[in-house]
Amino acid sequence: MKLNLVETKVKSDVEIIIVQKETNLKDKKILKKLNFEGADESCVLLLEQQKIYVGCDNTSDGLRVAAAVGIRKLNETTFKTASIIANENLREIIEGLELGNYTFNKYKSKKKVQKEKTINIIVEHISQKEIDVFQETVNVSNSVNMVRDFVNTAPDDFYPKIMANEAIKIAKDNNLECKILGDKYFEANGMGSIAAVGRASRHKSKLIHLTYKPSGKIKKKIVLVGKGLTYDSGGLSLKPSDFMVTMKSDKSGGSAVLGMMDAIAKLNLPFEVHGIIGAVENMIGGDAFKPDDVLTAKNGKTIEVRNTDAEGRLVLADCLCYAQDEIEDIDYIMDFATLTGASVVGVGHYTTSIMGNNTELTWKVVQSALDSGELATTLPFNKYLRKTIKSKIADICNISSTRYGGAITAGIFLDEFIKDENKNKWVHCDIAGPAYVEEQWGYNPYGASGAGVRMTIEFLKNL
Ligand code: BES
Ligand code: ZN
Ligand code: ZN
Repeated sequence: MKLNLVETKVKSDVEIIIVQKETNLKDKKILKKLNFEGADESCVLLLEQQKIYVGCDNTSDGLRVAAAVGIRKLNETTFKTASIIANENLREIIEGLELGNYTFNKYKSKKKVQKEKTINIIVEHISQKEIDVFQETVNVSNSVNMVRDFVNTAPDDFYPKIMANEAIKIAKDNNLECKILGDKYFEANGMGSIAAVGRASRHKSKLIHLTYKPSGKIKKKIVLVGKGLTYDSGGLSLKPSDFMVTMKSDKSGGSAVLGMMDAIAKLNLPFEVHGIIGAVENMIGGDAFKPDDVLTAKNGKTIEVRNTDAEGRLVLADCLCYAQDEIEDIDYIMDFATLTGASVVGVGHYTTSIMGNNTELTWKVVQSALDSGELATTLPFNKYLRKTIKSKIADICNISSTRYGGAITAGIFLDEFIKDENKNKWVHCDIAGPAYVEEQWGYNPYGASGAGVRMTIEFLKNL
């Protein structure tokens, strides 16, 4: 798909018309006959008039959905060019087109041959501002689609080494520093928690550390940490078969961090940003870590393992320690993880659960998410739930003594690895719900959505 930014109507095969409210539509009569009332996600193609009408609710995210519905309809036709009016909603329209046009065909032996479509996006006036919004939005959307590709890729084609290679590619492309660490480093630096989780896999664990430094003045220092479980079988606390399917998506947090680093560099944001990803495969075997094991993390805390399926927090614990030991004077530290099924149960498939000690900050992140078109809400910590991860024999336990509040107790577990000076700078984002959904929703496809990228870019842009 090729996007052109234009000021006036240029000749196009078909016009995509978004109907936000009952307006004086030219084709009112025929639309009525077709029962088109402009409802959200509704769409009709008027062949003779060469128009695609799409309905839209009265929200800015509705515009993204409408643009997505429009481009998908266009893709069902052989029309090659289309026009769409964006005016002051340029960002929403571009995101809707770019994110709605995404498909994942890697494993289809017969690829659909699709002639490239050209979309003329019409705005009243093109100034530098429109050009910037255009470039920026295309860049961020491309990063989101790259994340979707990573997450959708099968686990035997995307293991820790591959994730590290993708990081190296992104680093080369964007002039980032890239460090890849492994078992030797874990051993030498007391990172027994991350090391344990990957031990039974034939794929060696990797800790990926990307660094972006802006060309101009550095306004803030940001750390982004991602859970990159390229597969989560549950380990010896094996997942039931139905729950194991889709666990290739357990690398979504780490993949999102890769996408964020790509977007941040392309946007030239004025921050020093570190992207740290624990790329690990959680498998079974004679060498597997087990329930009853006691692990020691990089900060010296001991962890009683009572369930090997609560592995994400074990990987993140050491990644968070590493980040805070390596990077001084952090302004914000955010982590992204498909951490708990409890988050999905609690807030549903489409929403990210945001947690931390700093309520003002967590709500700020929620607001950024909503502004960017992602759904999010906060979940609150409390001292009673904190008590439920105490261990009788070690400092803490990797699961809670109660099954209630599982997203929060996982968040509180991570908090045990946040240094005092960073307590109020840290935000935990549980993206288990939206990262991977087995149905198309709005402008998101079946499978990976690329959750986390847009909300984080929005948060950073507002700092
Ligand atoms: N990766 C899973 C969480 C998950 C579940 C992500 C469903 C996406 C969809 C995580 O490692 C896990 O297995 N968590 C357990 C924790 C439990 C053992 C305390 C869970 O949520 O059941
Ligand atoms: Zn697990
Ligand atoms: Zn997991």
